[in-house]
Amino acid sequence: MREWIDKLFEHEDMVRMGHHQRAADGNLGLGWLYYALARVIRPSRAVVIGSFRGFVPLVLGKALADNAEGGELWFIDPSLVDDFWKDPEAVQRHFSERGVKNIRHFLMTTQQFAVSESYRLLGEVGLVFIDGYHSEEQARFDYATFENHLSPEGIILLHDSAVVRTSRMYGDDRAYEHRVKCFVDELKKDARLQVFDLPFGRGVTMVRKSGA
Ligand SMILES: C[S@@+](CC[C@H](N)C(=O)[O-])C[C@H]1O[C@@H](n2cnc3c(N)ncnc32)[C@H](O)[C@@H]1O
Repeated sequence: MREWIDKLFEHEDMVRMGHHQRAADGNLGLGWLYYALARVIRPSRAVVIGSFRGFVPLVLGKALADNAEGGELWFIDPSLVDDFWKDPEAVQRHFSERGVKNIRHFLMTTQQFAVSESYRLLGEVGLVFIDGYHSEEQARFDYATFENHLSPEGIILLHDSAVVRTSRMYGDDRAYEHRVKCFVDELKKDARLQVFDLPFGRGVTMVRKSGA
């Protein structure tokens, strides 16, 4: 595992985006949690919405591949920050050069994915990682799109949930407020859910259905 992590961190952007990672001691930060959940739940399918350079898809994809059952990671990202996800061959190379070959990328928004044939065929999902556009409305849409597909033992994670803050990720002229925390506060009022915050890095929140 350490060898894989060191190779992962050779790409300098893999320590960005607030997952509390640290290259110096091969520390995946919150990535350990993502990896562990995928090894414990052992889902045949996991979904990631949004990623800057693929840290979460790679960690979850690796975990699924390490499970004896295998599994597939569906990664939804329309590449709105820059062109990084636009070329399908470059995307597959980016993942396979890091030893992960079970990621299927959808170059689309969650809105577009939700009306696609792939969504109709999706079936059960054991892990959903929400890290796309961080408005309250989009977090709600991302959650609603997948909550009914969640397996009974499944977990939904929402990243950047620790604080409300301004992001200039899409340029100074498109600065906006991260308001995932506001959506999470709404989920906490739902007695049918267990909602647990981990305020490390930019924070991640885990959600599961308590009666499941
Ligand atoms: C860089 S990541 C993680 C967010 C980051 N921590 C930030 O500061 O905003 C955001 C990703 O979400 C993707 N994205 C934006 N809007 C989306 C949408 N409607 N559906 C799916 N992905 C989306 C972008 O293409 C981008 O790659």
